[in-house]
Amino acid sequence: MKLFGMAEDLVRQGLAVTDTFYGAMSELYDTTITETDDIPFYLSLARQHCGTGGRILDIGCGTGRILLQLLRNGYQADGLDISAQMLSLTKAKLQAANLETALYQGDMRTLDSLGLTVKYHLVIIPYASMIYMLEDSDRLAVFRGVYNLLEHGGILAFDFDAGQNEIGISKPWISLQAIDKDQGRSILRIAQMHGISPNLRCIAQITWLNTENQGKIVVSCEEESSISAPHMQELLAQAGFSVTKMAGDYHGQPYSGGELCLITARADH
Ligand SMILES: C[S@@+](CC[C@H](N)C(=O)[O-])C[C@H]1O[C@@H](n2cnc3c(N)ncnc32)[C@H](O)[C@@H]1O
Repeated sequence: MKLFGMAEDLVRQGLAVTDTFYGAMSELYDTTITETDDIPFYLSLARQHCGTGGRILDIGCGTGRILLQLLRNGYQADGLDISAQMLSLTKAKLQAANLETALYQGDMRTLDSLGLTVKYHLVIIPYASMIYMLEDSDRLAVFRGVYNLLEHGGILAFDFDAGQNEIGISKPWISLQAIDKDQGRSILRIAQMHGISPNLRCIAQITWLNTENQGKIVVSCEEESSISAPHMQELLAQAGFSVTKMAGDYHGQPYSGGELCLITARADH
C-alpha cells in the first residue's frame, strides 16, 4: 500500500491503522454503497441474453449488490471476487434471503485457473471493477478468461472509467458521511487522490469510525486506472470480442466521450 498525503501523515504519527478497502472495510462498503442506478441495466441484459436456463457470472461481485438482484429476479447467477471478506458478506446475505448460488474466490485475471466447467451466457463486471486492472496485460487476461467461460456468442458487459485524472496530490475531500444508527456509529470518510499519470491514480480513503465516542481511523490506499473507450474496444477485439454497444449512461445513451463508459461485447467464437 503506497501511502501519501494526509493518510501517510496519520499513519506515521500513529493516529491511524492501515487496511485494504475490500478487506476489513468490506462491511462498511456494504452498508454505505447503496447505488441502484445500474441494476435495471444488468437486469435488462439478463432478460435479453439469459432466457430459460441462461447463466450469468458476476465478476467482482463484492457484497452481492447486483448478484442478489439477479437471483431475486429468477436468474441463475454465480459470483466471483478476490476478497474473502466481501464474499463472506455476500454469503451471509444469500443465506438471510434463502438464496443459493456458487461463489468463487479468485482473481479475475486468472479465471482459467479456477477450473470452472460451466459456461455462461452473460458475464458482467459491474461498478467499474475494471479500474483495478492497471495494465493492458491485466485487461487482456480478464477478457481472454471471460471469452473461455462464455457460451458461443455469449455477452460480456461492464462499466469503466474512460476519463483522465489530474497529475499530482489533490486536496482531501469528504467522500462519505453516514450515520449508522442501528450499529450506533457514525462514519466520515475523506478521500485524497495522487494522480500518477492521466490514466493512473492512487486513491487514499481515510475513514473515521466513531462508535460510542470512541474514534478509530482506518486508512486504505488503492491504485486505480482509466482507459479510453477506443483503446478498451481494441483490447476486446484482441481477445475475440465485438463491441455491440457503447453507452454513456445506464439508460443506454450512446457514449460521447464522458468518464463513464458501459460496454456490451459479444464473444465471436
Ligand atoms: C467497486 S467494488 C464492486 C462490487 C460490486 N460489483 C458492486 O457493484 O457493488 C470492486 C470489487 O472488485 C473486487 N476485485 C478487485 N480486484 C479484483 C480482482 N483482481 N479479481 C476479482 N475481484 C476483484 C473487489 O474485491 C471488490 O469487491
